[in-house]
Amino acid sequence: MCGIVGIIGNRPVAPLIVDALKRLEYRGYDSAGVATLEGNILDRRRAEGKLVNLETRLNADPLSGIIGIGHTRWATHGVPNETNAHPHFSDDVALVHNGIIENFRELREELIADGYNFASQTDTEVIAHLVSRELKAGKNPADAAHTAILRLEGAFALAIMFCSEDNLIVAARNGPPLAIGHGEGEMYLGSDAIALAPFTNVITYLEDGDWAVIRREDMKIFDASGASVERAKQFSVGSHLMVDKGNHRHFMDKEIHEQPEVIGHTLAHYLDFAEQRVSGLDDVSFNFKELERVTITACGTAYLAGMVAKYWFEHLARLPVDIDVASEFRYREVPMNKDGLSLFITQSGETADTLAGLRYCREQGQHIGAIVNVRESTIARESDVVFPTLAGPEIGVASTKAFTCQLSVLACLAVGAARQRGIINTEQEAQTVRELSEAPRFASQVLKLGPQIEQLARELANVKHILYLGRDTNYPLAMEGALKLKEISYIHAEGYAAGELKHGPIALIDETMPVVVIAPHDQIFEKTVSNMQEVAARGGKIILITDEKGASKAGIDEIKTIILPEMPTIITPLVYALPIQMLAYYTAVHMGTDVDQPRNLAKSVTVE
Ligand code: M6R
Repeated sequence: MCGIVGIIGNRPVAPLIVDALKRLEYRGYDSAGVATLEGNILDRRRAEGKLVNLETRLNADPLSGIIGIGHTRWATHGVPNETNAHPHFSDDVALVHNGIIENFRELREELIADGYNFASQTDTEVIAHLVSRELKAGKNPADAAHTAILRLEGAFALAIMFCSEDNLIVAARNGPPLAIGHGEGEMYLGSDAIALAPFTNVITYLEDGDWAVIRREDMKIFDASGASVERAKQFSVGSHLMVDKGNHRHFMDKEIHEQPEVIGHTLAHYLDFAEQRVSGLDDVSFNFKELERVTITACGTAYLAGMVAKYWFEHLARLPVDIDVASEFRYREVPMNKDGLSLFITQSGETADTLAGLRYCREQGQHIGAIVNVRESTIARESDVVFPTLAGPEIGVASTKAFTCQLSVLACLAVGAARQRGIINTEQEAQTVRELSEAPRFASQVLKLGPQIEQLARELANVKHILYLGRDTNYPLAMEGALKLKEISYIHAEGYAAGELKHGPIALIDETMPVVVIAPHDQIFEKTVSNMQEVAARGGKIILITDEKGASKAGIDEIKTIILPEMPTIITPLVYALPIQMLAYYTAVHMGTDVDQPRNLAKSVTVE
């Protein structure tokens, strides 16, 4: 992860770099640093913790200079402290890095044998020393950087600055994204276009293996072989959006409340309300009718959206789905029939494992479809068909609105697939489209349950472990509820298929164990009631998220209920996601954790 920035400016750049880093803090926030060059002297300020600590340091001890680089860190090698914070220096070289250098141990030993001293525990420092060694061997800065880059194995986005050059930054990309921004007599680079939004919206994206020699007046890009290449300039859309919290205490709260609107926008993109049908599937490179199966790959919350979709595709469209987390999928060497469909679900579009899964499927001759929120991301750019989620920028590390927008897209695709495969007729499709269009209204109603859910959350704030249970599409929702809770409240939580309870987790149940059960009144509600009875018989404290009918039929004393309106089954995953998000949110707020930037996490996971 980590975010990197570089600016070759014509004004003092340190404040500009900090401004850009603020937009990249979602990529990591355990330490940060800036280095600038003035009068052939490299200088830096670094600070452990959030960016605000770096700002304080810079205010007390400013950096001048009109060329500089900056970094916000998510620690991989070495604890998050000031010494391990970037930029790293080696004699005449300063460098920032996003990624992991896999062969850093052997490089480190080689450099130590050559007399280099290491100040940090990072993998990054080897790169600075490698470049420095090439400079000392007489190479010019660009060649020195290129020679060093050729020694690196692993993932990297790099920005390198040199003592002797006040008009040069060398950038390189192998894996993590890197955007170069073109200004008026200034050049910029950043981990994404949003970082550069205050300065320019004219962007060139480096491709994997590219490295660039950037100067105020121009830039030259070379591919891995060293051949000069052209990469198109693009106008970044929407990158001007620097969202704020509005009247909300946290971005997560704001994003939860935006859901009726963004679910509505997303559904409107895929549903033709006049014709009452799913639209937009006619021009894509595949037809669901010809598919034997679909492969879905994603990570975290996006994976759980895919798990919900598996139920939909299989039930509605009679289309089998293979789904796996990308970190496993990418190494499983899955045999795949040519011309199959592989779907990748991702908010950021930059998740390293998901991207690796995509590239594997590309090699296997699959049609590549991406359900993606960031339209300019690498995964969007490498896909045959992009199915955008219209969630808008999601800033809170815990994914909320991106999840329900992913579900919105997937529900539409499953209905479209059912039609193409002849499983549903026009009238059934129209009926389902009408049902889907109700989701924003129900989501608005659920938001009104905030005070009640907040009250319940007060009690959860004191517990150590929580179990979430659900069946069918409510099973992935149970896992999502547990994921949400643990990532922002740090309470240990597990999500289980309710029927699995008696195969192990029931041993955990006693009077101290809250069990959140997600169970709208549906065809298998009674089965879940049996599981609740098993919990109640062992003293477990049940919180049941259901509807009026479910509440009246649960038949268990001592149960707490969150009652949602009755609604069509197809939209329950979209709407029931909200109370589980709210429960996690209010619990974390009561516990006083850093809700938007929980410890150890980052929004975009660009390393394995
Ligand atoms: O950007 P992506 O959707 O690919 O990210 C995948 C996961 O890292 C992400 O969903 C993560 O699990 C969230 N923090 C969950 O809230």
